Amino acid sequence: MSDYEDEMELDAPVSKDKAIQFSSDNTAGKQKRIVADLPVEAEDNLPWVEKYRPSTLGDVSGHQDIIATINRFVEQNKLPHLLLYGPPGTGKTSTILALAKQIYGPKNMRQMVLELNASDDRGIDVVREQIKTFASTKQIFSASTQQGSSTAKFGLGAFKLIILDEADAMTSAAQMALRRIMEKYTANTRFCIIANYTHKLSPALLSRCTRFRFSPLKKEDIRRLVDHVISQEHVNIAPDAVDSLVSLSKGDMRRALNVLQACHAGSRPLPMKGQPPIKEADINYELITNDTIYSCIAAPHPEDIRLIMTTMLSTPDITSCLNTINALKSSRGLALADILTALAEELQTLEVSAATRVTWLQGLAEIEYRLAGGGSEAVQTGGMVGVVRTGCELMGEKGVGEKMSVDG
Ligand SMILES: Nc1ncnc2c1ncn2[C@@H]1O[C@H](COP(=O)(O)OP(=O)(O)O)[C@@H](O)[C@H]1O
Ligand SMILES: [Mg+2]
Repeated sequence: MSDYEDEMELDAPVSKDKAIQFSSDNTAGKQKRIVADLPVEAEDNLPWVEKYRPSTLGDVSGHQDIIATINRFVEQNKLPHLLLYGPPGTGKTSTILALAKQIYGPKNMRQMVLELNASDDRGIDVVREQIKTFASTKQIFSASTQQGSSTAKFGLGAFKLIILDEADAMTSAAQMALRRIMEKYTANTRFCIIANYTHKLSPALLSRCTRFRFSPLKKEDIRRLVDHVISQEHVNIAPDAVDSLVSLSKGDMRRALNVLQACHAGSRPLPMKGQPPIKEADINYELITNDTIYSCIAAPHPEDIRLIMTTMLSTPDITSCLNTINALKSSRGLALADILTALAEELQTLEVSAATRVTWLQGLAEIEYRLAGGGSEAVQTGGMVGVVRTGCELMGEKGVGEKMSVDG
């Protein structure tokens, strides 16, 4: 859930000022062209997620099967309605924008693509009016006379493309209105619906689309782009920090790039007062270490988690155990929610009896649920200590006793 919100926040600044119109000012093609015209400093200020957005289907990391299938559709001039879904930052928007560019060429994208985002108003009126108007007008030029579209596939160039990004945020009435429109204008339009969760989409819409699931990106795929950006931007980063960055981003490329950019900006030394500004090339960036990455993501450091775990496992006295944990939490500034996630992983690595493991897993799951539902941090911390200790008690005499009784 939080990931989804993250994405909305990150996407918002890019798309907020886009009006829902005939896409003349909200296509990536246009954005890219503006960027190309900007002076160098302005381009440097672009968020890296935009600067390094894949511009062709070939640039999209991972998802080889999906890209291959989409390419096959394009080659055969048979593009179905598409549904791309999966967690944020896995390349859904980038893929469809790259596809649109490949089909129409950057010049014609403006006339041929209507892109609507979650931050636009997409109630039933928008679907009825905007999409209908766009879908029902025939393109005024013939695909074969397009200029500069050597890459354009002529057959597909005759279709208009409507991209509904973040479609799971559409009202259900709007989704209902959409299904009729999709059928009515299939002759000259193709829809691409992008969503994080399919369960928020109406089944009728789902059945009209060919579905592609974008799974979280593999570590190698993330590392490839991260390494590329590090060398392009001359980021001064320690090798183990790259490892942490790649694994902490949990398959979300956008997150990896944003954290990297934030750390890079943070490693820039402050300008001295009264001295002339230093040239970009002469700035000595500080080394980005593992600690920098962890504190930027605000993830608990693995050592802290291990300390918390060993404390709980080795302190039978609940009161002193709880006091130590609370002291650790406040001195390191850790939130229980983060501790729980990391602790559950860490406890998994221990060799314990099945009964203990079940107690831990069930208990932690329960606490996480209660915490998410608004349970108090202090009380739930007590709950966590209780759960881990109960598991430990099971491992003690009682665990052995049970085993003996089974044997006997
Ligand atoms: N598969 C990928 N290959 C290359 N870059 C990617 C990929 N997925 C995400 N990115 C990077 O993350 C940014 C956000 O990707 P985007 O396509 O908007 O994600 P989504 O729409 O799935 O949330 C892009 O600008 C790009 O820099
Ligand atoms: Mg997107």
